[in-house]
Amino acid sequence: MLLQIKSITKKFGGLIALHDIDLDVEEGEIVGVIGPNGAGKSTLLNIIAGVHKPNSGQVVFHGEKISGMQPDRICRLGISRTFQIPHPFPKLSPFENVLVSATFGSHTPVKDNRALTREVMAFVGITANEQTTAANLTTHQLRRLDLARALASRPKLILLDESAAGLTPNELADLQELILKIRASGVTVMIVEHLMRLIMELCDRIVVLHYGEKIAEGSPSAIVNNDAVTNAYLGEKYLLA
Ligand SMILES: Nc1ncnc2c1ncn2[C@@H]1O[C@H](COP(=O)(O)OP(=O)(O)OP(=O)(O)O)[C@@H](O)[C@H]1O
Ligand SMILES: [Mg+2]
Repeated sequence: MLLQIKSITKKFGGLIALHDIDLDVEEGEIVGVIGPNGAGKSTLLNIIAGVHKPNSGQVVFHGEKISGMQPDRICRLGISRTFQIPHPFPKLSPFENVLVSATFGSHTPVKDNRALTREVMAFVGITANEQTTAANLTTHQLRRLDLARALASRPKLILLDESAAGLTPNELADLQELILKIRASGVTVMIVEHLMRLIMELCDRIVVLHYGEKIAEGSPSAIVNNDAVTNAYLGEKYLLA
C-alpha cells in the first residue's frame, strides 16, 4: 500500500474537520475525494502533506509514519500537492517557479535541474517565457504552473486540490488528459474536486466526505447510486450529474 490514512481526527478548536478517517491508496490509482463545501477535503490533503498535524491517528507512506513530519520533508519523501488557490512566487517567471521545486523538492539531487524544469513544463504544456512573471498568468496557466511545480519534485503521489476550478470546457478536457498522463508516468493521484463529471471519468475509486465523516467509498458507479451520497448532496448545484 502506498498511502495509509489510519483513524485520522482533526479538530480546529471545537470544530471536528475530520473524524476518524481511514483510507488506503494503492500505487497507480486515481482516487477522488468529494463532498460538499466544508466537508474536510482540503483538510485531509493538508494532513497528508504535513501542513496540519492530526489530533489523533496516523498517516503512513511506503510503510513509514509521516504524520508529524514537516511539509518539506514529506515533499522530499515523494508527496507533492497543488493548492485550491495557487500561490506561486509572483515576481519569479514560470520557469524560475518550477526551477525552485526541481532544485529543492526532491529526495535525490537532480543532475540538471534546468533540463528537468524544461521537461516538466513541456509535459504540462506551459511555455518557458522568461519575460513573464507568475503574477501575470491566467487561471488556467496558474493551475498548470502549480501542477508543474508539484511534478518537478518528482513525487510518487500527487495531491490535487480543485485543479479544475475556473477552467473552460476545453481546458477541462486538457486537464483530464494531463491527469491520465501523470498517472501513466508512474505517479499515483489523489484528486479533490467538485466537478462530478471529471471525477466520475477519471477515478478508479471515490471517497465521499460529509461534515468530516467518510460516508461512502467505492467505484464511480457505486457512488452515484449510493443513498447517503445523494442525501449529502441534496440542494447542491453540482448534484451528481
Ligand atoms: N485552518 C483552519 N482553521 C479553522 N478552521 C478550519 C481551518 N481549515 C479548515 N477549517 C474548517 O474545517 C472545515 C473543513 O474545511 P476544508 O477546507 O477541509 O473543507 P473542504 O471540503 O475543502 O471545502 P471546500 O469544498 O469549500 O474547499 C470547514 O468547516 C472549515 O471552515
Ligand atoms: Mg477545499
